[in-house]
Amino acid sequence: MIIDGKVVSSLIKENVKKEVETIKAKYNKTPSLAVVLVGENPASLVYVSNKEKACEKAGIKSIMVKMDESSSEEEVVLKVRELAQDENVNAILVQLPLPGHINKDNVLKEIPFNKDADGLTHENVARLSLNEESIVPCTPMGVVDLLKYYNIPIDGANVAILGRSILVGKPLQMLLTNLNSTVTLCHSKTKNLNEITKKADIVVAAIGSPKFLKADMVKEGAVVVDVGINRLESGIVGDADFDELINKCSYITPVPGGCGLMTVAELLNNTIKCFYSQNK
Ligand SMILES: NC(=O)c1ccc[n+]([C@@H]2O[C@H](COP(=O)([O-])OP(=O)(O)OC[C@H]3O[C@@H](n4cnc5c(N)ncnc54)[C@H](OP(=O)(O)O)[C@@H]3O)[C@@H](O)[C@H]2O)c1
Repeated sequence: MIIDGKVVSSLIKENVKKEVETIKAKYNKTPSLAVVLVGENPASLVYVSNKEKACEKAGIKSIMVKMDESSSEEEVVLKVRELAQDENVNAILVQLPLPGHINKDNVLKEIPFNKDADGLTHENVARLSLNEESIVPCTPMGVVDLLKYYNIPIDGANVAILGRSILVGKPLQMLLTNLNSTVTLCHSKTKNLNEITKKADIVVAAIGSPKFLKADMVKEGAVVVDVGINRLESGIVGDADFDELINKCSYITPVPGGCGLMTVAELLNNTIKCFYSQNK
């Protein structure tokens, strides 16, 4: 069965829209998200424009901050600090990757934890690992919401995650562990990867390698969640070989049409969370 990211992300976006209306009526305020984009990375330009459109549709105020590729680290830090202090800004997202001469950690440090739309600050990472209330990174939250929507058992499931980035693999490991899965977090140095993936009830691929996960790497009836977005001349493909896997899996996410749509929806959700944590 194909997991339909469009259906699930639309539901989340509808809920956000309703929440925005409630906020406007109750607080006479419009929740806002500031997106900081440094440089002209083509993929980032597409992502940022998608986020802007999604905000507009949901009634969230989108504040685009575009900075030159040549901006210094200090300039970017000062800009984020300014947004952090601005009462009219509820949530901040710094589009990654930043140009090579800027240390992203020094920039992210400036985001207060309750304005951290991407859930990447030290405080939110710590809270997630402690299983406390936190802002969770959008893509892994989207993976969990997809699994929940399709009633795929998470409690007690054996999960193999391929990829240990701070944006996807690591936070997803924490989220699923908090939900009682037994998670094996794999990476490029993992030995006998096939043995791990073949035992898993759920395999999540987030490595950035086109069609890497093949049918002979998963067990019959496994659930495959494909986070990968790889731009090839022939179009966008995921990290899983969908055509091979579709007949072996019980559930699989397509690319496009799966996790990517969820990421934007979760970002809107996080903006609402940020608003409420500033307006109790
Ligand atoms: N759907 C969405 O909205 C969304 C959001 C974010 C990212 N993505 C996509 O997801 C993919 C991963 O993104 P990312 O930012 O997490 O990537 P990343 O920071 O480049 O990390 C890739 C991870 O994959 C591991 N890896 C690479 N080759 C491997 C292999 N052959 N076997 C096992 N592990 C391997 C790496 O291991 P090491 O740590 O050992 O190097 C690393 O941990 C990309 O295609 C990206 O475009 C999609």
